[in-house]
Amino acid sequence: MVKDFISLADYTGAEIMALLNLADELKRLQKTGRPHRLLEGKTLAMIFEKPSLRTRLTFQLGMFQLGGFSLLMDSRLGVRESVPDVAHNLERWVDGIMARTFRHEDVCLLARSAAVPVINALTDKLHPCQILADVQTLREHKGTSLCSLKVAFVGDGNNVFHSWANFASRLPLNLTLVCPEGYEGDPEITGRVAKEAQGTFAITHDPVSGLKDADAVYTDVWASMGQEEESAMREKVFLPYQVNKKLMELAKPDAVFMHCLPAHRGHEVSDEVIDGPNSVCFDQAENRLHAQKAVLASLLRGDRVLSIFAELNHK
Ligand code: CP
Ligand code: NVA
Repeated sequence: MVKDFISLADYTGAEIMALLNLADELKRLQKTGRPHRLLEGKTLAMIFEKPSLRTRLTFQLGMFQLGGFSLLMDSRLGVRESVPDVAHNLERWVDGIMARTFRHEDVCLLARSAAVPVINALTDKLHPCQILADVQTLREHKGTSLCSLKVAFVGDGNNVFHSWANFASRLPLNLTLVCPEGYEGDPEITGRVAKEAQGTFAITHDPVSGLKDADAVYTDVWASMGQEEESAMREKVFLPYQVNKKLMELAKPDAVFMHCLPAHRGHEVSDEVIDGPNSVCFDQAENRLHAQKAVLASLLRGDRVLSIFAELNHK
C-alpha cells in the first residue's frame, strides 16, 4: 500500500476506483446521519503555505466527522528549520500530515522524511485531492462508467490539469487540454501521460475541436497562487479561452461546467455559465469533504479500502 497521497500517478486505477467508491459510501453515511468514526483518536497536522477555503475546512471537518482531530499550522516550510526536521517532530505527535506548499519538492521531501502518511493538498505542480472530488462529482452527474466521457480542460496547463492528466493515465477517460500557446503543461507529465493514457489524451489551441463532444468543460484560474504578478499579461493571453455561453455551445448540450474554485468571475468564466443550470462547481466543493475523508480513512489507518468497507458494513 502507498504510504502517502502525493500524486494520482503513484496509485493504480483499481486503487483510485476503490477510494472513489469509499468516498461515495462515506457521503451516503454522512448524509443519512450514520456515524463512521473510522479515525477515533487519530490526529492530523495541516500545513498551509498558501490561502485556502475549501481544502482547509473540508480536511478539518473530515477529521472531526471521522472521530479524529486536526491541528493547523500556517508557516513556510524550511524557513525556521529544515523540512526533514519538521517531519521528525510531527511524526512523534500526529498520525498524518496534510500540506499545501509552493514547491512540489517540499511535499515530496516531507513525505520521504516523515514516518507518518503525508497528503498533498496542492503544490505548484499537482492537486490530487481536487481531482478525486471532481471525478466523484462527474460520476454522480454522468454515471459511473467514465470510459465514454470526454473532459475538456480549458485554460492553464497547471497543477489542477496535471492531476487530471495523471488520473487519465490510470483510468480510462478522454481528456483534452484547450489552452493558449505556451501553457501546455509540464512536458515531463504530459509526455508520460501521452504514453500511458487509458483513453484519448490531446492538447490543442483550438477551442472548436477541443470542446467538440465534451461531456464536461473544466476551467481554473488564469493566474494561480504565486503567479499574481503575471495576472495582467495572462488576462490578455487567456481571454479567447474564457468559458462563456458561446464557448459552452461548442460542447455537448448537456455538458456540465466544472471549476475547482475559487473562481474569478468575468475572467476564466462568465457569471451566466458558473451560475447556469449545467454548473456543478459547488457539488465539486461539497465532494472535497467526502473524497478527502476516503483518503484520510485509508491512509491514517493504513488499511486497505476493502477492510474499511467491511468495518462500515459491520456497524
Ligand atoms: N479548490 C481548492 O483547493 O480550494 P481552496 O484553495 O479554497 O482550498
Ligand atoms: N491553480 C489554482 C488552483 C486553486 C485551487 C492555484 O494553484 O491557485
